Amino acid sequence: MKQSRALQTALFACGLVFTAAASAGGGASGSMLGNTCAGCHGTDGVSVGPGPTIAGMSAEYLSETMKGFRSGEIRSTIMQRIAKGYSDADIDAMAKYFAGKKYVKAVQKSDSAAAKRGAKLHDKYCEKCHEEVGTSAGDDSGFLAGQHKLYLQYTLTDFTSGGREPGKKMKKKLDKMLKKTGDKGLADLVEFYASQK
Ligand code: HEC
Ligand code: HEC
Repeated sequence: MKQSRALQTALFACGLVFTAAASAGGGASGSMLGNTCAGCHGTDGVSVGPGPTIAGMSAEYLSETMKGFRSGEIRSTIMQRIAKGYSDADIDAMAKYFAGKKYVKAVQKSDSAAAKRGAKLHDKYCEKCHEEVGTSAGDDSGFLAGQHKLYLQYTLTDFTSGGREPGKKMKKKLDKMLKKTGDKGLADLVEFYASQK
């Protein structure tokens, strides 16, 4: 909860105050619907932070994630309220729209010593499913390299605190890593992903 609130505070600090998600109704195009997301996810889904960049992810991942938010299966600070305003068809149309846009990595500061440690951890525990440092849309596992730091911190903390359930296999790897590194390993990974230009 603490992390979720931190993210929400950050969003409000950035002036990203959300005004009711209204479904544009049947037949609206993905790009029309997608415009309402720009306040937090940037133009064409390339965020300037702190919300995640969603451009270029696979349509399947985007669609499933949105539906997961809507049902509450995937915990969120804001997205459940937003996703509830959309039908399956709306969500699929938006997913297709954002999947067709190009993923652009965020330019962020990072600690180079931590990033070096994080690189090793990533190779050992994460690369298998998050290929190309987590920039391969084909993986259906979300983007890591160049994703906004605050979002990664919040999401990883949610995974490790039980707020969001990672897949069984990911959980196994994550637990294995945490046993060795503690939370410091998560911080190192975040620095590594932020260092990827
Ligand atoms: C008020 C800000 C805000 C608006 C508007 C918004 N989002 Fe989000 N979005 C977030 C935040 C914050 C998260 C992280 C999850 C959470 O805590 O809600 C997120 C997460 C997501 C994710 C998951 C990304 C990932 O890496 O797994 C998707 C997909 C998404 N949003 C799609 C959309 C779409 C499509 C719209 C427009 C209909 C939209 N969002 C509008 C703030 C917003
Ligand atoms: C066995 C495959 C697998 C491994 C290993 C794995 N992941 Fe994942 N990861 C996934 C899948 C699949 C998803 C998307 C579905 C979900 O939410 O569980 C995901 C989602 C994520 C997300 C959320 C992405 C987003 O955009 O919201 C983060 C962050 C993440 N993983 C980080 C890691 C890190 C860090 C490691 C290494 C310690 C790791 N994963 C290891 C399969 C894996």
